[in-house]
Amino acid sequence: MCGIVGYLGEERAAPVLLDGLEKLEYRGYDSAGVALWQDKKIAVVRRKGRVCELVCARSLAGNAGVGHTRWATHGAPSERNAHPHRFGAVCLVHNGILENAAALKEECLARGEVFSSDTDSEVAAHLMNAFLAEESDLLRAVKRACELLSGSYAFAVLAEGREEIVCARMHSPLVVARGTDGVFAASDLCAVAAEGRSAYVLEDGEFARLTKEGAELFDSALRPVERTFFALAAQQAAPEKGSFAHFMRKEIEEVPSAIENTLSGLPDLLNSHLYEVLCQTEYLHIVACGTAYHSGLCMKAVVEKFARVPTQVFVASEYRYCDPIVPEHTLTVAISQSGETADTLAAAQLALERGSRLLAVTNVEHSSLNRLAQHVLPTRAGREVAVAATKSFNAQLAVLYSLAAALAAGRGRRVPSPAALAVLARETLCASGRVAAWTPYFQGARSVFFLGRGADRCAALEGSLKLKEISYLPSEGYAAGELKHGTLALVDGATPVVAVITDPQLADKTMNAVHEVYARGAAVFLVTPFEELCAAQEVTASVRIPRCEPAYSPILSVIPLQLLAYHVSLALGHDPDKPRNLAKSVTVE
Ligand code: G6P
Repeated sequence: MCGIVGYLGEERAAPVLLDGLEKLEYRGYDSAGVALWQDKKIAVVRRKGRVCELVCARSLAGNAGVGHTRWATHGAPSERNAHPHRFGAVCLVHNGILENAAALKEECLARGEVFSSDTDSEVAAHLMNAFLAEESDLLRAVKRACELLSGSYAFAVLAEGREEIVCARMHSPLVVARGTDGVFAASDLCAVAAEGRSAYVLEDGEFARLTKEGAELFDSALRPVERTFFALAAQQAAPEKGSFAHFMRKEIEEVPSAIENTLSGLPDLLNSHLYEVLCQTEYLHIVACGTAYHSGLCMKAVVEKFARVPTQVFVASEYRYCDPIVPEHTLTVAISQSGETADTLAAAQLALERGSRLLAVTNVEHSSLNRLAQHVLPTRAGREVAVAATKSFNAQLAVLYSLAAALAAGRGRRVPSPAALAVLARETLCASGRVAAWTPYFQGARSVFFLGRGADRCAALEGSLKLKEISYLPSEGYAAGELKHGTLALVDGATPVVAVITDPQLADKTMNAVHEVYARGAAVFLVTPFEELCAAQEVTASVRIPRCEPAYSPILSVIPLQLLAYHVSLALGHDPDKPRNLAKSVTVE
């Protein structure tokens, strides 16, 4: 993943770059660096760890530079592997993976060149330096190097003696922005929204050159092109934590408003062009990763219950290589908070190639997925900063339930309205505060199980993912009925079990699993609307959530599970906003 930023203008570049990098830290935070153009020379500062480690660079002079915050792919997180990478006259930052780096490096080594890092990115600096010697034009040198690369990249490149920044994009996001005091490049609008006035999202294969005269754009053949820059809105800027200790806590608090804003911002599906598509849809395919995949599972439960449209949910990284069967009249829904997840994008592209219609559900207006899809339904969760997705999940469900309702309506079937869910989410949030008291049972746990049936299983899967992401406890979400077919062997007194029970028709069945784990010494924690279940002797503690249509219940039952993960993470001394090894936007395969 990684975040890159570039600035050239009248201001000192160092503070602009460091402020931008802080906003991009959600993309990776294992090392960081900046390069500043000073009197025709380039000064580089790199550090292992977070962007705050670069504090000494803030006072550096220079009105142009590039910066990087890294999520390691090739080479350990260390100062030597931190970007920018310099070779000869060239200094660059890179986001992406260069898949043929090893072969290209061999050629460079054969020429006697010496490498100073273990990264794939450094090889690009070697290639650009060689072409710069031939071309005397940085833009052409970057282009010729890019022609040799396979994989994904967003580059921002400086060269000694040239007051310019050259940018290139292929399968990794990159925006260029114009401001009053200069021009910018960044992996995400949030890094430039505070200072930029207008922005353009580069397409794959395009190049940009930032100079004192402004930002010029070029197509893949380096022909100058004019593109429309859109105005940057204040909401594209990165949010602040306010009075909350962590973004994750704040974002859980924002779940009800995320649902409310999403539902009220949806177009009238029954009177939209999409409705015709929904009426013709015979098969629904869903592609997504991580939390968004769990949203897809929740949607399947609703669609199959109410609309009776056969629905398959695919992990996007599997879909892209499983030679998927895409029947005629398939609608593929690609779900992604960021709209930039590489696997989801590739799966969506493949679905299009196989003749499916494509609908994107994302939280980011100008994302790559939105630009790829024929139809877009936005979630209006507001920017989500914490790496572990919370409010975006609930907002996705608000969209997906509405979509399911429209699919059902197209078949003359009636569906309970999702309209009341924001109010119920507010009640759930109030009731969920008590999970903080559960943490002592989880702090010393060897592993944790989350159980449920039907839609409750989907909530269990997401609750488990939250816990493992930010507490690092081994955790498993499981179909309650499947537990006894092997996994029960793992349950003992050091294995807390969280059961989600919201469907009256399945309550007794899931309670059977509760009896079974209790009999093996597990402490049981319950999330349910049913008072009588909370009173059961097997239950150590519970959260009572409001009743709603059981198929919709994950949008509520996940809230105490999100909070549980947060509190356990804190109790174990971790940073819930920035879990180790993870990044929010996974733009590499
Ligand atoms: C990463 C994040 C997860 C997220 C997943 C999909 O793994 O850490 O929280 O669910 O990517 O991201 P997307 O932006 O496509 O929803």
